[in-house]
Amino acid sequence: MKTNQFISQNELDEQKRIALALSKEIEPRGLTFFVETFGCQMNVRDSETIKGWLCEIGYTEAEDKESADFILFNTCCVRDHAEKRLMGNIGALKELKDARPSTIIGVCGCMMQQEGVAKKLLKRFPHVSLVFGTNVLHRFPSMLQTVLNGERIAVTDRADDAIAEGLPKMRDNLRSAFVNIMYGCDNYCSYCIVPYVRGRERSRRPEDVKREIVSLVSSGISEITLLGQNVNSYGNDGSTGMHFADLLRYVSDVPGLRRIRFMSSHPKDLNDDVIRAIAEIPNVCHHVHLPVQSGNNEILKRMNRRYTREHYLSIVQRLREAVPDIEFTTDIIVGFPGETEEAFNDTMSLVKEVGFAAAFTFAYSPRQGTVAARMEDQISEPVKKQRLSALNTLQAEKTVENNEKYIGHVGEVLVEGCDCRGEATMLYGKYPNFKMVYFPGDPILLNRYVTVKVTKTNKNSLLGEMIHA
Ligand code: SAH
Ligand code: SF4
Ligand code: F3S
Repeated sequence: MKTNQFISQNELDEQKRIALALSKEIEPRGLTFFVETFGCQMNVRDSETIKGWLCEIGYTEAEDKESADFILFNTCCVRDHAEKRLMGNIGALKELKDARPSTIIGVCGCMMQQEGVAKKLLKRFPHVSLVFGTNVLHRFPSMLQTVLNGERIAVTDRADDAIAEGLPKMRDNLRSAFVNIMYGCDNYCSYCIVPYVRGRERSRRPEDVKREIVSLVSSGISEITLLGQNVNSYGNDGSTGMHFADLLRYVSDVPGLRRIRFMSSHPKDLNDDVIRAIAEIPNVCHHVHLPVQSGNNEILKRMNRRYTREHYLSIVQRLREAVPDIEFTTDIIVGFPGETEEAFNDTMSLVKEVGFAAAFTFAYSPRQGTVAARMEDQISEPVKKQRLSALNTLQAEKTVENNEKYIGHVGEVLVEGCDCRGEATMLYGKYPNFKMVYFPGDPILLNRYVTVKVTKTNKNSLLGEMIHA
């Protein structure tokens, strides 16, 4: 059995003391922050912690980047597109720093955890003074203190990938929240940088997860999304005494918790216990984000995904039998090294066969240090582009098809937002199975549950009417 390292209460108390001391200087000066987040839900969740610290330190949130005294980019490096965007963004802040030298500019997140990047960044951008990685968020007050004292620092150590509990957080969303159940990833899919930048896989203690959910629900949140790179392997290392299906049952009885979502699911670990849990637990939503990546067995093997097309399809089939209204969404990579036209067509045929509600599709992007980046038979950019576009066209047709079966559907929707630009105010929100519907209504219904009937479809979306609030 494995045990996880935890950041000690003493260390945390020390950071809280530093935060309090800083707030005595910062608060009276009315200083503000702006945090911009790139990448996935993990980063969104980390930004909530950093913003939580900034509030404890006495900053308030700025309206925009230009007026902020502290600007931070939380970065992603999963594809090279993300990197290029970031460099442009940082470069653009030089003028701002020249005009107002007291502004502190920081960069954090996954990209800073890549070999040598943090130091390189400090060198290349003299206007950046704070750089830190993904596993030192618990030390944010002391890092900021150093910078406020005039030093420029880069902190990217791993601290044995210890888990930090009890950090502050600032959440924007009053309806729905992300809750980490695990950190890191050990799967080493051959194309993926995440295991290198996020460290080894470790699961939080079930009681810590539940405590966080109880506190969220008591603050009015009724929908939570359990987060992990591979939630189905929760506790597989023996460190928690519970597997994912047990965790779902364990947290599901929190009074007032109406919707439990989770992501991402790795097909290799989605077993019958999880299928039963989704079918049996009333507040677990009937939606699985199940990245398939490719429909071809040779490519899946080279990707080191450790399942076959047949296994994937059998999960989909078993879930549909157990949970008839379930919807699937997925991630797909095209143009992986060695992907022949035939292999690509296997992905196309899988997409036809499954009928995903939505697919997030990507052209393969070589990441330095990964196995796939060193593979021969890299696919040319024009071919990747052409395959991506063919796949997107197919998925768009499947989305329309999927939408059509919803005409007449009645179900509960959690109102997420409103579009007030047209003649009538349109509210929107999701059914438990992740399908989004638009309907006319009053914005006071925001964050509430209403019953909506689908009356027509409109290319990408469902349109409906409220049958009661
Ligand atoms: N842990 C999740 C995925 C996290 S990354 C899972 O395994 O399902 C989100 C998505 O980015 C992946 O599912 C994959 O489709 C895509 N992705 C990751 N690395 C990539 C790369 N090098 N090139 C293109 N897409 C990539
Ligand atoms: Fe990357 Fe694979 Fe881990 Fe997902 S499971 S984060 S794709 S290595
Ligand atoms: Fe990007 Fe890091 Fe997520 S690399 S996809 S932000 S885990």
